[in-house]
Amino acid sequence: MSEQARKTAEALEYLTGFGNEHSSEAVPGALPVGRNSPQRSPLGLYAEQLSGSAFTEPRRHNRRSWLYRIRPSAAHPPFTRIDNGALRSAPFTEAPADPNRLRWNPLPDPAPGTDFLAGLWTLGGNGDAAQRAGMAIHLYAANASMTDRVFSDSDGELLIVPERGALLLRTELGLLAARPGEVALIPRGVRFRVELLDDDARGYVCENYGRPFELPDLGPIGANGLAAARDFRAPVAAYEDSERPTEVVNKFCGNLWSATYDHSPLDVVAWHGTHAPYVYDLRKFNVIGSISYDHPDPSIFTVLTSPSDTAGLAGVDFVVFAPRWLVGEDTFRPPYFHRNVMSEYMGLIEGAYDAKAEGFVPGGGSLHNMMSAHGPDRETFDKASAAELKPQKIDDGLAFMFETRWPITATAQAAGADHLQRAYDDVWQGLERHFRA
Ligand SMILES: [Fe+2]
Repeated sequence: MSEQARKTAEALEYLTGFGNEHSSEAVPGALPVGRNSPQRSPLGLYAEQLSGSAFTEPRRHNRRSWLYRIRPSAAHPPFTRIDNGALRSAPFTEAPADPNRLRWNPLPDPAPGTDFLAGLWTLGGNGDAAQRAGMAIHLYAANASMTDRVFSDSDGELLIVPERGALLLRTELGLLAARPGEVALIPRGVRFRVELLDDDARGYVCENYGRPFELPDLGPIGANGLAAARDFRAPVAAYEDSERPTEVVNKFCGNLWSATYDHSPLDVVAWHGTHAPYVYDLRKFNVIGSISYDHPDPSIFTVLTSPSDTAGLAGVDFVVFAPRWLVGEDTFRPPYFHRNVMSEYMGLIEGAYDAKAEGFVPGGGSLHNMMSAHGPDRETFDKASAAELKPQKIDDGLAFMFETRWPITATAQAAGADHLQRAYDDVWQGLERHFRA
């Protein structure tokens, strides 16, 4: 892949902090001083507000950015429908919601010339994109960079979780690099192009139709812990001054629409505001756990949460199972057997997961839907029940979970996929009866 893109990624600078009122200008003097929309913006730029929340939402949820661009986004021909490819959207009605535990192997390799957008494949989700509630789970597999086209999602924000291959994300607000082990978030409506920094790329995407992700409250944990706000990085302004025709693909209420601009819409020379992309390195997550007995519920591993209108009940939580020490005394240390009103989709970025000895592989995923029974497989149960309980470092894997308040309905392509593991239930076979009255 492009040596140029790799050098660009290595030299990137960032603004730090979560949800900050950032400001950045790629050309000195491009940002207006003291107002958002002066009579004439500096350097002949157009001022445009991008609203990620209603004007009137409470201040802690209010998100908007002011963009100062070479041409206003409004200067475009009509959008027309294009094929959705393997992208699907809520409401998910192709297949019945399935109470069974489901597990998939990684996506098959894509055809040559598949870029990030063409390589998106929807596994399932819940809610309704048009109601701005719920979420979708997509996987992607790509072997080409996007060229002369950008993507924007009106239906939700995109949390991109690379599993294989680093990505260079060229967004309206600037450039971000996301490597496996890092996550990138593209806010609703922000145009971006994905370039590959390795020969191919594979990973997961949570499309969050609901309220934007925020950091969870910490309660008695205190003022520090879990993901630190200072470790989130937003881009500095960077613009393309290109008169080449550029296709803008917009996902709107579940369908893809396309319009070709006569210039690059990544032409924002300066911006300020709160509606901005960011990256976060999951290895920086400060893992908190028990230092006596038992282990806390996995909500203790929440990186980001999309709250709903009911306190504590997330539209979707993004949770990471990062390297950590287990020290609990008289404790069954792997994740416990569980039935959960919330629905859990798990993916694996690297290594292995401590509740599954095999079959759950990087790039694959498992779905444990509302109230379905899950937990360690037989081999893991037997081993953990007999293990000597000395301090143990779990450091051979990086797994994550999208946990959501509504059941997840798989798409027809996911329910019937060749890479669906049809014997997943077998991992819980052979759990022996040990009861003695
Ligand atoms: Fe669970």
